[in-house]
Amino acid sequence: MGNFLEKVQQAGREAAASIQAAAAPTDVEALRVKYLGRKGVLRDLLSEMGALPASEKPSAGQAVNQLKNEITQLIEAAQKRVEAAAKPAAKAGPRLDVSLPGRMPRRGYRNLIKQTMDRFVDVFGRMGFEVASGPEVELVRYNFEALNIPMEHAARDAFDTFYFTGDVVLRSHTSPAQAREMEKRQPPVRIIVPGAVYRPDTVDARHHFMFHQVEGLYVDEGVTMADLKYCMLLFAREFIRPDVKVRFRPDFFPFTEPSVELDISCAVCAGKGCSVCGQKGWVEVAGAGMVDPNVFKAVGYDYEKYTGFAFGFGVERMAMMKYGIDDIRLFAENDMRFLEQF
Ligand code: PHE
Repeated sequence: MGNFLEKVQQAGREAAASIQAAAAPTDVEALRVKYLGRKGVLRDLLSEMGALPASEKPSAGQAVNQLKNEITQLIEAAQKRVEAAAKPAAKAGPRLDVSLPGRMPRRGYRNLIKQTMDRFVDVFGRMGFEVASGPEVELVRYNFEALNIPMEHAARDAFDTFYFTGDVVLRSHTSPAQAREMEKRQPPVRIIVPGAVYRPDTVDARHHFMFHQVEGLYVDEGVTMADLKYCMLLFAREFIRPDVKVRFRPDFFPFTEPSVELDISCAVCAGKGCSVCGQKGWVEVAGAGMVDPNVFKAVGYDYEKYTGFAFGFGVERMAMMKYGIDDIRLFAENDMRFLEQF
């Protein structure tokens, strides 16, 4: 009997030492099989036990059972230990393969609106216009009154906009920048103002509640409507292409007198009629006219001495014509498939 218990203890010591030393999951598994497996050490002890006298069997059985529990616990602890040790390596993932082709970063580029405005700046810049800017959040006084649109005037409707308070609005056109700029300097003035404008319009293929304009203003002694027309023609030829035609149609703006609507022969269909020009052959691209003396009066210019012209182009309109785009909503949808084409 002493012999048998001695053997059980010996097996226990060996098992503890080897299991605690195991470093890899495969080692732990091999030890589990060695001790607990069907042909393992514990099985051997149990069959040896069968040869012991009946009186010794209970205490021998107890010893073997205890050993089995101990080894099971040791194996479980070792499994946890080696698994935890293996984890950081798994986290690090596969080694870096330097032979793989790199991922190209997506290249940024200017939005079509910005590109179109830059084109305005380029062409008018070569005609001597400098770039000025005004705030998009504007005072009612500049959006309306300074432009000869008093409160009770019916034309106020055409330039209705979003109000923050009674006297602060989102500008409904870039024209307020005319007044701001003239208050700051004396003639000659030759400026363009590219920027965003807002109107509570219902969105459709030709209208949006936010769009862009390029305002222009030229003030000096002896500026005439012929200057305006020639300036518009030169611009259109340069911006669209040399064979393009322009025409004026009478219109009304409170801040210009006389006022015109500027049409350009449709560049998409060469004036034959298409979906971009609504089968008309012409596209309305700007409002323009000779600066109303009341606007000069409001900024303190001598309206007997100076004359000038002003114009306001629709940026999206011009881009639509230049590139044959037939829906203004495309500019604001942020669909890369559309934007990437330009
Ligand atoms: N501000 C006018 C508009 O939106 C356009 C315009 C500008 C007309 C300058 C005349 C002179 O619609």
